[in-house]
Amino acid sequence: MLSNYSATAIAHPNIALIKYWGNQDETLHIPSADSISMNLGSLITKTQVILDPELNHDVLILNNQLADNAATLRVQRFLDYFRNHSGIKTCCRIISENNFPTAAGIASSASAFAALTLAAAKVFQLEPDLKELSRIARLGSGSACRSIPAGFVHWHAGYDHSSSYAESFAPPAHWDLIDCIAVIGDEPKIISSLEGHRLAQTSPFQKIRVETARSRIEVCRSAIIERDFIQLTDVAELDTNLMHSVMMTSRPPLFYWQPPTIAVIQQVRKWRSEGLSLFYTIDAGASVHVICLKKDAGIVQERLTLIDGVKTVILSGPGDAAHLLS
Ligand code: DP6
Repeated sequence: MLSNYSATAIAHPNIALIKYWGNQDETLHIPSADSISMNLGSLITKTQVILDPELNHDVLILNNQLADNAATLRVQRFLDYFRNHSGIKTCCRIISENNFPTAAGIASSASAFAALTLAAAKVFQLEPDLKELSRIARLGSGSACRSIPAGFVHWHAGYDHSSSYAESFAPPAHWDLIDCIAVIGDEPKIISSLEGHRLAQTSPFQKIRVETARSRIEVCRSAIIERDFIQLTDVAELDTNLMHSVMMTSRPPLFYWQPPTIAVIQQVRKWRSEGLSLFYTIDAGASVHVICLKKDAGIVQERLTLIDGVKTVILSGPGDAAHLLS
């Protein structure tokens, strides 16, 4: 008899260096193109899943608060996957916490669904391998599939559920990169990423972005493998600019940047011209991820903090795979 069986897992969010924007299949989150990311080791989501036969619906507690209906429904639907595949129909209590501010412009859905995948697989007694865990996490949130494996990760877009998964191509210790996250603004996103991915195809630039993604993936992978910071700078900034060009030319257009976003971009370019090794990358928000080498992280953090509109600067190096706590 199963009663109050529980498992806890930890996962890290990830920052994409080659971005995921637009889907071939919206329901399964099969992306239009491959993407590459780095897990963020200092940022942690810890999620406990408790099978509770007393419950008649799933209950989600996020950062010590009962989650709203939309978030609970998303998690309920996701847990249905485990109920359907295990035959265990029990409802769950899910207790999830982040050690980073949810509204800081750091996508928490990736680490949230990666940690939930591991903990749920355990309590529902499924034993997926790493690839399968990545596929399942993808069903919750696309980028969550990249938070399953360790370090530097390549999400193969594929064309169906089985061919679309992420795998590590370099461990966290491979390269001492630091993501200095310049947190800008804390308003919740007006447009969800689901809606953003849907709008991508309305931009005339999306087709060319997708058609040219393969070559950026190859350049980015080899830049990381060879620790070639100059090559990585070039391809990652190009890829961010391309994704934001698509966003800005979608119908309706999406403008995630705020004045401090541009200020950070300009400073990063200026400091680079003065000899510092660093580049920017920006997700679906105003905050800017400034990537540099570990030896320069202190000075980059200090300088970013002085820019008007930057609320705080959070630092993280490469992170490990999602894992269960015993
Ligand atoms: C801009 O993975 O958050 O951060 O699948 O709808 O949950 P859903 O989308 P999500 O999209 C991430 C978009 C991005 C780029 C990236 O991380 O690759």
